[in-house]
Amino acid sequence: MPDGEVGTFKDNKSAPIHRWFQYPAGFSYRAVVHALDRFPLPPGGAVYDPFAGTGTTLVVCKGRGVRSVGVEAHPLVARIARTKVAWEVDLKALRSEAERFLRSLPARPPAGRSLDRLPELVRKCYSRDNLARLLAIREHLGTLPAPMHDVFEVALVGTLRSASAAATGWPYIAPRKRIQEREAYRTYGEALHRCVEDLGSTPPEGRSVEARVLEADARDPPIRPGTVDLAFTSPPYLNNYDYADRLRLETYFLGMAQNWAEISERFRSRLVVSATTQVQRQDGPPEERVMRAVHRVAPEVAAELAEKVRTLSEVRHHRRGKKNYDLMVARYFEDMTRAIGATRRVLRPGAHFVLILGDSAPYGVPIPTEEYLGRIGVGLGFRHYTLEPLRARGGKWRSNPQRHHVPLKESWLILEA
Ligand SMILES: C[S@@+](CC[C@H](N)C(=O)[O-])C[C@H]1O[C@@H](n2cnc3c(N)ncnc32)[C@H](O)[C@@H]1O
Repeated sequence: MPDGEVGTFKDNKSAPIHRWFQYPAGFSYRAVVHALDRFPLPPGGAVYDPFAGTGTTLVVCKGRGVRSVGVEAHPLVARIARTKVAWEVDLKALRSEAERFLRSLPARPPAGRSLDRLPELVRKCYSRDNLARLLAIREHLGTLPAPMHDVFEVALVGTLRSASAAATGWPYIAPRKRIQEREAYRTYGEALHRCVEDLGSTPPEGRSVEARVLEADARDPPIRPGTVDLAFTSPPYLNNYDYADRLRLETYFLGMAQNWAEISERFRSRLVVSATTQVQRQDGPPEERVMRAVHRVAPEVAAELAEKVRTLSEVRHHRRGKKNYDLMVARYFEDMTRAIGATRRVLRPGAHFVLILGDSAPYGVPIPTEEYLGRIGVGLGFRHYTLEPLRARGGKWRSNPQRHHVPLKESWLILEA
């Protein structure tokens, strides 16, 4: 499959609707277009994305008049996805509400106590004046009629990083790295107008077609068995990316959490393990105990994995940070086994499950993630699996002296039910 045809998540930065919130942990909308062309659906068929994120799969399906359902465990991310597929809006009313809303924002909002109550990370990302404006927008959201509220909120969430005086690129927010701050009202106004414009240009075939976003767990999705004709997703990679942590700026600003403990309890604990921040050493020796489902469905993979896990538990003692990669790897495969099994159950016989996936090499120990998940898929009852390499990855960190030199790639893993 030619690389250029499926693109990277960067394509989403300029595409209508997709551009509302720049969530880097995803694929290009063009990958979904490619999959829909390649695996044609029966009339009225439905697509499922078990790790729906901000809804790239669902937005593309809706644009093509295809029914879809997505599951996303992070409440804010699920809310963004839901808003991006709510196209049945009264555009005229939305436009005039947007103008009224922008006009009614106070010119000089007081930089008072509510600002001081925000977590330090948020305060460090803005000048006091700009933060007061962002808070004024947040407070004003309460004046909106219910069906409009979410679009206005997503525009605000999309503004937080672009109006910041600190480097807030993904994956890391660096409050000490200062950049040119952008005035919050103007930046928000532009974001809101983009949302309105995009909703005005949605294809008519998409407006009435169902796109459901469920805030739920991909390991146990509330979807009837045997009802889906294609599953397409990009699950968390085994790359120490902590989604709950990466969304700290947004969740703190919206008041959804105040500190690390709340982030852990409200978001981190719900997600598939893909970062060392999600595991704790007292969990004990992981191999057999943690990987029960893997042992049951694919004992040979479990044996190979147990060897990797043992190597990692030794290597960590000699490496900086002594990170719990051994526990992370064991838990990742256990969680993914459950998610793939659950996806298998909702698919109709003969349907495909396509995953865009990267492999990884924590502390330089290569883990062929796609191959292991393919074999686990077969153990779970899929008829067979194929791997199609997409591109090399990891180049961004090559100059980091802590970094290993194992070449990494991204692939399509295709499972057939
Ligand atoms: C690689 S991202 C998917 C991005 C997506 N393609 C998009 O368009 O934004 C993986 C997503 O899986 C979510 N996730 C992690 N654990 C989950 C679980 N147990 N159930 C459902 N979603 C989960 C994360 O919150 C994250 O948004």
